[in-house]
Amino acid sequence: MYDGHFEIDNLSTDDAKRQADMLAWHPIMFQVARVLSSTGILKEVKVGRKNGGTPETISEKLSIPLYGVKILLEVGLSIGLTKLMRENTYTISKMGYFWLLDKQIQINMDYVHHVCYKGMYHLEEAILTNKPAGLKELGPWEKIYEGLSLLDEPIKKAWFDFDHYYSDIAFKKIFPEIFKNNPKMIMDVGGNTGKFSIACCKYNEDVKLTIVDLAGQWNRAKKNIEELGLSDRISGHVMDVLIDDPVYPGNADVIWMSQFLDCFSEEEIVHVLSNVSKSMNENSALYILELYWDRQDHPVPAYCLHGTSIYFTAMANGNSKMYHSGDMRKCVEKAGLKVVDDIDVENDYHTLYRCELA
Ligand SMILES: C[S@@+](CC[C@H](N)C(=O)[O-])C[C@H]1O[C@@H](n2cnc3c(N)ncnc32)[C@H](O)[C@@H]1O
Repeated sequence: MYDGHFEIDNLSTDDAKRQADMLAWHPIMFQVARVLSSTGILKEVKVGRKNGGTPETISEKLSIPLYGVKILLEVGLSIGLTKLMRENTYTISKMGYFWLLDKQIQINMDYVHHVCYKGMYHLEEAILTNKPAGLKELGPWEKIYEGLSLLDEPIKKAWFDFDHYYSDIAFKKIFPEIFKNNPKMIMDVGGNTGKFSIACCKYNEDVKLTIVDLAGQWNRAKKNIEELGLSDRISGHVMDVLIDDPVYPGNADVIWMSQFLDCFSEEEIVHVLSNVSKSMNENSALYILELYWDRQDHPVPAYCLHGTSIYFTAMANGNSKMYHSGDMRKCVEKAGLKVVDDIDVENDYHTLYRCELA
């Protein structure tokens, strides 16, 4: 497990200075990498990888000015996406292949560029005010959730692709656990486009579900559910879970919260959990599916989750993040619940907490 608290600082002084110097250029280098991809230049380098390609041939083939092709290929050397075979002749690196072809990296790149990049200019203001100061780059909302269904393209696609990519991988693996006591009714809190609820209906032919979410998201989910003929099995409960006395549907055997509690501050999480616990009895279970930065088996996923945290700071709400598992556990306990099972989802970044009334 990776836990930044206990790391030893074993970089040499020279390497530490070099890495700090490189960090200053990361935002520019990210754009170089992205444009190498979006213009098709990197793909062209891949196609001609055996003999290598010159800026001149690539410029002519793609009708992109020679200056632009040449500068991107040169800078690509510094960021490790291109390699020189001989003078003025480039090929693709191993890292270049992943940048071009790996689905997860594409999704992360599009999310960082379309959803986060412009807003990050306002990070300092967000930190000082506890407000998502970068969100004004996307729309006139207090929090991103009010505007999710109204985002312009390709921003909307990048947001939903990112969200779905990570939850979709986990859903398939956790169904045996969720359905082990044969639940008749599942409450999907923060159910978004209805993907989880729809997948549940396909997995088990008897289960019924209620999605609790904001109006914009429920209206979109409802459309998907109607198109699939599942309206008699999945209903909606439109509600802002942050209101003072929220009333949740009372008949759920399982309450499901996937990538949901990271949308709230710790105080808000306790508020949400305390209120939802009022709808529970000694037989009901609450499942929390989250990605915790301390529960990753490599520093890179933890790095990605820390980046995602900053999306919450500058773009989403100004007060939430991807949590440390211990902090989430404390919130669960403060809300009068207990974690009875703590499951690492296999080959995945997620952790599943099964919680019951304390
Ligand atoms: C990150 S998405 C998670 C979607 C889905 N559960 C998944 O795993 O992919 C968070 C969801 O929580 C909803 N949400 C955020 N704030 C909310 C609030 N105050 N009340 C109700 N729902 C809220 C959003 O509308 C969104 O659908």
